[in-house]
Amino acid sequence: MDFWSSNLYDERHSFVSNLGEGVLCLLSPKEGERILDVGCGTGDLANEIDKMGANITGVDRSANMIQEAQNKYSNLHFQAMDVYDMDVYDMEFHNEFDAVFSNATLHWVTKPKQALERLYQSLHSGGRLVVEFGGKDNVLYIRQAIQESYHQLFPTYDQLEEPWYFPSIGEYTSLMEEVGLTVSYARYFTRPTPLDGEDGLKNWIFMFAAGMLAHLNDAEKEQLVKRVEQVLKPTLYKDQQWNADYCRIQVIGYKK
Ligand code: BEZ
Repeated sequence: MDFWSSNLYDERHSFVSNLGEGVLCLLSPKEGERILDVGCGTGDLANEIDKMGANITGVDRSANMIQEAQNKYSNLHFQAMDVYDMDVYDMEFHNEFDAVFSNATLHWVTKPKQALERLYQSLHSGGRLVVEFGGKDNVLYIRQAIQESYHQLFPTYDQLEEPWYFPSIGEYTSLMEEVGLTVSYARYFTRPTPLDGEDGLKNWIFMFAAGMLAHLNDAEKEQLVKRVEQVLKPTLYKDQQWNADYCRIQVIGYKK
């Protein structure tokens, strides 16, 4: 099931691409390089990379996102694909890319070693992996408030299974080394992230926790969000602004 709405994403969550500029600097694309953007969403960062003269391929497992990316940037190459499936598309993704880039995606990839093996395989010798995503304790206040509110409101329902992977630097760089990458850079930092408008937290939950809450009906979802807002208001709402408690890791690794 594709829970991603490309319209909602572009209208209310464009901060995801805007905040990707730091990791774009780390990537520092060069003229003519072949670069794979994993989890390209609606294509905004792929377009930036293209403007810097590189040859970009964007992949995303959401067909909705890829459709919108292709509508917005018809001159670029996009493909709907899950990172785990990159080996079945054989030669196109073997020893091919100068760089693999990913922003705000790999926390959705819950079999990280399998994904890293695919990404490693897609790089040619000397190629680099440059990624940023949610690290240890990412959105911890929001996650705890959702879990607690859910248990209080719906005590007889099944437990909520979070769909995310938020590793520490130690854990992720070890996996990178296990698949053969040489780690040259790693950084962990907090990044409180403004969510637009009075409904900023609600919109965030409806966009990013949609899959986890899909079994609730609309009234139950509204009830849950109201409770979560009450719990988080003292911590994450300041000067009429919601701020998500984001924590990021950025890493770079090379294929020998
Ligand atoms: C993030 O970008 O940190 C994130 C996005 C959606 C769900 C969880 C975390």
